[in-house]
Amino acid sequence: MLTRRAALRAFTFTTLAAVAGRWLPESARAEENNAPLVPEPPPSHSSDAPFTLGPLPFAPDALEPFIDTRTMEIHYGKHHAAYVNNLNKAISAYPDLAKRSVQDLLRDLDALPDDIRTAVRNNGGGHANHTLFWNSLAPASDTKPEGALAKAIGSDLGGFDEFKDAFTRAALTVFGSGWAWLSLNSDGALLVESLPNQDNPLMFGRTPILGVDVWEHAYYLKYQNVRGEYVKAIWNVLNWPAIATRYEDSIKGTI
Ligand SMILES: [Fe+2]
Repeated sequence: MLTRRAALRAFTFTTLAAVAGRWLPESARAEENNAPLVPEPPPSHSSDAPFTLGPLPFAPDALEPFIDTRTMEIHYGKHHAAYVNNLNKAISAYPDLAKRSVQDLLRDLDALPDDIRTAVRNNGGGHANHTLFWNSLAPASDTKPEGALAKAIGSDLGGFDEFKDAFTRAALTVFGSGWAWLSLNSDGALLVESLPNQDNPLMFGRTPILGVDVWEHAYYLKYQNVRGEYVKAIWNVLNWPAIATRYEDSIKGTI
């Protein structure tokens, strides 16, 4: 029999999944509170909201104790949802853009109309980044990179320990809000970098393989201002099989 706490948790996640993509737009800063997650009615036509919030590939408590349940609920159900809604708002006056993938929009920001370029950069970046992030995480396991990715980390970055040190440094040295990235350069080599705000390697001609969110909203409830503890914890919940598959698909040019 479900305990009351387990039942409440299951209900919360089911509710979040059921209303994915249907939250009212909010600014990222306004979402830093602990207000109840209240769903809004869905749009009347799907063309009103061409970009949607995909399902979280794990339950919000699945990454405990490394990422706490409440942070996951707010991060996915409010922050990510707001980026999706704000992206839809930004392109609502340009129906042709709704036919393109968010990755395509980010690859060629200069081609976008002036009045929405910054909004697409921030909110399209936020949507793409968080989608990739959720799909790079999994409940704790002892997995490490294998196959072609492990080989490339060895040849391009000096090995897993050197990569881990460089990636951790990149995550800790982002000033303010941003992301640490493992990216694939146009010459096919891996590199570690950090980018501010919701910028994505696609904006600079590179392919993102792994991104770790170091905005305070990703860790503040559990780790407060100690970003280093959060970055240390994240290594326990990286989904290396999924990341390795993304690398292999990128090398083949299929993503
Ligand atoms: Fe985030």
